[in-house]
Amino acid sequence: MKDPIFDLINNEKKRQSEGLELIPSENYVSANVLEAMGSVLTNKYSEGYPSFEGIGEWDETKIATKILPNYRYYGGQANVDRIERLAIDRACRLFHADHANVQPHSGANANEAVYFAWCEPGDKILAMSLPAGGHLTHGSPVTRSAKIYNFISYGVTADGDINYDELEQKALAEQPKIILIGYSAFMKIPDFARVAKIAAKIPNCLLMADMAHVAGLIAGGVHPNPLDYGFHVMTTTTHKTLRGPRGGLILSKGNVASPLKKPEKTIENIPILIDRSVFPGTQGGPLEHIVAAKAVAFGEALQPEFKTYAKDIVKNAKVLAEELIKHGFVLQGGGTENHLILVNVKDGFGFDGKIYEKALDMVGLTLNANAIPTDKGGAFHPSGVRLGTPAITTRGLGTSEMKTLAAWMKKVADICAEAETEEKLADFAAELETIRNEVRALALKFPVPGI
Ligand SMILES: Cc1ncc(COP(=O)(O)O)c(C=O)c1O
Repeated sequence: MKDPIFDLINNEKKRQSEGLELIPSENYVSANVLEAMGSVLTNKYSEGYPSFEGIGEWDETKIATKILPNYRYYGGQANVDRIERLAIDRACRLFHADHANVQPHSGANANEAVYFAWCEPGDKILAMSLPAGGHLTHGSPVTRSAKIYNFISYGVTADGDINYDELEQKALAEQPKIILIGYSAFMKIPDFARVAKIAAKIPNCLLMADMAHVAGLIAGGVHPNPLDYGFHVMTTTTHKTLRGPRGGLILSKGNVASPLKKPEKTIENIPILIDRSVFPGTQGGPLEHIVAAKAVAFGEALQPEFKTYAKDIVKNAKVLAEELIKHGFVLQGGGTENHLILVNVKDGFGFDGKIYEKALDMVGLTLNANAIPTDKGGAFHPSGVRLGTPAITTRGLGTSEMKTLAAWMKKVADICAEAETEEKLADFAAELETIRNEVRALALKFPVPGI
């Protein structure tokens, strides 16, 4: 009997092909990334690391012949070592890092590993608050990290920028072990140099950036790289704008050496401390099929075409934001400087983000309801929706399609305003179906890679 799981996977292929993905943290990977993920590498255990010999001078053409020592706990590593070594080397080149740990299973694991590498229980970490746009892993009380470390938060100003004065005042008063710049819903470009200047006044303060959302923009050269501005560590997911498999990545500046010997706890030694923190500190065996897929994605991001892709993501986001404003939408921060848009539908139209998310789903436009800073609606009735352009740009949609998209979003907003409740959306089934057919027709003109 055929396993029904495969029917469900086929249904998901159809859903992805016939709709448009506006969730800013999603993307469509290439056929090569998919192939690496589905490979026999999933059969292999490879706890530990390949050697770090020759970082920065790696010649990919010598990959098959170079003899590689390793720090592994199992035999049979000849291919895995080479694959992971290539992933590390490509990541370092892409992000100007001295070292990369490519093993974190996710962005959350990557952040956890950095905290564990540098902090003791009870140490202070200064990060953006969740309502302001930060991520759960930056100190939300529901997480494990918040029970171990002492998170202090900064917010954003009325115009949507980081409140740098608040950040500085709290940093000087609290003397945190880590200052963290990172976010899931923030539309400006951070002033990394200003934050580095603040951190320099605090002894032993690790500067960490969680660039999970914008890593692809950094790789494509359309967003500053915190490692170029004195940051010691950058974490990221590999599946958002970076367009790789789901996973995490930790990049760092400093000494690169064998992780077998415990180094002195200094900022210079952070790459070694991070390796020891990922394995054996917080994870077991790496997912080498995912590591291989990360290597493929980093290789793609090193190509000139990726620069064009990154530029187009931002161009599309800016046009979409402008069009939405023309249609009467209220945008947090007044627009966007990256791939993210946060729309305050409560202020613009009077309904909450949940009904809008549901109605847009019915027409094949997928995004997520999201709180806006100072939101009173709580997690179940947030005032906004968050959307972004990485996935639709991968499919090849351009600025004229952004105008069409904004017009559909306005029509759906008008329906929500009339319906008022999710249940009453059923009364507008015919109008929603008309838009659904238009969305499907456009989506099918832009095939999903790998399907
Ligand atoms: C800024 C930021 N950090 C970390 C994460 C966590 O990544 P993952 O879902 O892979 O654990 C996310 C995910 O959305 C994120 O936006």
